[in-house]
Amino acid sequence: MHRIAVIPGDGTGPEVVDEGLKVLEAVAKLKNFKYETKSFDFGGDRYLATGEILPEGALDELKTFDVIYLGAVGHPDVAPGILEKGLLLKLRFELDQYINLRPVVLYPGVDCPLKDKTPDDIEFVVVRENTEGIYTGMGGQQYRGTPNEVATQLMCSTRHGAERAIRYAFELTKKRARTRTVTIAARDLTSVSEPDADGNVEFVHFERGKMIGKLIEKSDRGIKVEVSGMLTLCAKMNVLTYAHDMWFRAFNEVGEADYPDIFRDYAHVDATCMWMVKNPEWFDVIVTCNIFGDIITDLGAMIQGGMGIAAGGNINPTGLSMFEPIGGSAPKYTGKNVINPLAAICSLAMLLEEIGESEAAKSVEDAVKEVTGTKLKSMAAGKMGYSTTEVGDLVAAALK
Ligand code: IPM
Ligand code: MN
Repeated sequence: MHRIAVIPGDGTGPEVVDEGLKVLEAVAKLKNFKYETKSFDFGGDRYLATGEILPEGALDELKTFDVIYLGAVGHPDVAPGILEKGLLLKLRFELDQYINLRPVVLYPGVDCPLKDKTPDDIEFVVVRENTEGIYTGMGGQQYRGTPNEVATQLMCSTRHGAERAIRYAFELTKKRARTRTVTIAARDLTSVSEPDADGNVEFVHFERGKMIGKLIEKSDRGIKVEVSGMLTLCAKMNVLTYAHDMWFRAFNEVGEADYPDIFRDYAHVDATCMWMVKNPEWFDVIVTCNIFGDIITDLGAMIQGGMGIAAGGNINPTGLSMFEPIGGSAPKYTGKNVINPLAAICSLAMLLEEIGESEAAKSVEDAVKEVTGTKLKSMAAGKMGYSTTEVGDLVAAALK
């Protein structure tokens, strides 16, 4: 029996979560598993009524569940930061959900704003560090409201925090096993070994260290090797010379020691944005810090068809995880039955995978693909050709 805590939250959160729960009920019947849910009313309305965000004991109670399903956080009548910090970030931090996993996948039939890009081109995953960086809230203000006002907001990165996100990302890259061919220019190579009996060479990248690949071609321009996956570190080493230098060293040390056959790619965050638009097919897995992950996954959501379809999970690999659509509470669409529930339904699929119901997860994902491929006119709120509840019905009916 899976025990699922449900936090519908603010705005359109409850509407999309309802559709997710509709699909959950249907897929549980089909795949024969049992679950129970308990709903918690945390969010803006409760805060406005009681002044309380997370009541005493709430965290302890949540910890008795197997997983959390969250709708949205953010209320137009509550000042920015209060609910975000008091609810969403609090849960992520207190439950040590140190990974924010955000797949960027273009589903069949979904309009992509990038010219000539198809589902074959957009299929990567962002692993966002989720408990530190600039999100910790360290810093302060002095002389507030005066001309001498000073404000600091610290980016706090720890080796432990960077390393565990990086390790998770390497494991995921290994599991995806997307073999590919990469070319390394001679000027970037410190050395290349002779091929062994299987044709594998060890090569040393001048900045990123030693890696292993199957040699395909070697010339004075460089080498072409087949690697068993590629992990891109997205950072800003040229400016964040303390924090991201540490990330870079952790990335290379972990990769060299434990994942030598995964190619270590690096891109500054600004260049990452450029490549996501120009050549999204380049990416396999991207690992990045909290704030950059926040920003590039909104861009990721757009290239996969919009906020209506972008799912995510806050993961504690050894503890309690929480799944939520990436989009916010969309106050202007609230209560109109027009918001796209697919992001919430795709988050449910991720949730099912996390609790070990892989078949059900696949079934939900396939059903979503069928619905995007054959029914929905658009992913945008109010333009789907169906209401929120009808889209939920369509997915539930398409389950196999
Ligand atoms: C997200 C959101 C949050 C974040 C906000 C609401 C605090 O934008 O989940 O991406 O910045 O992480
Ligand atoms: Mn965001």
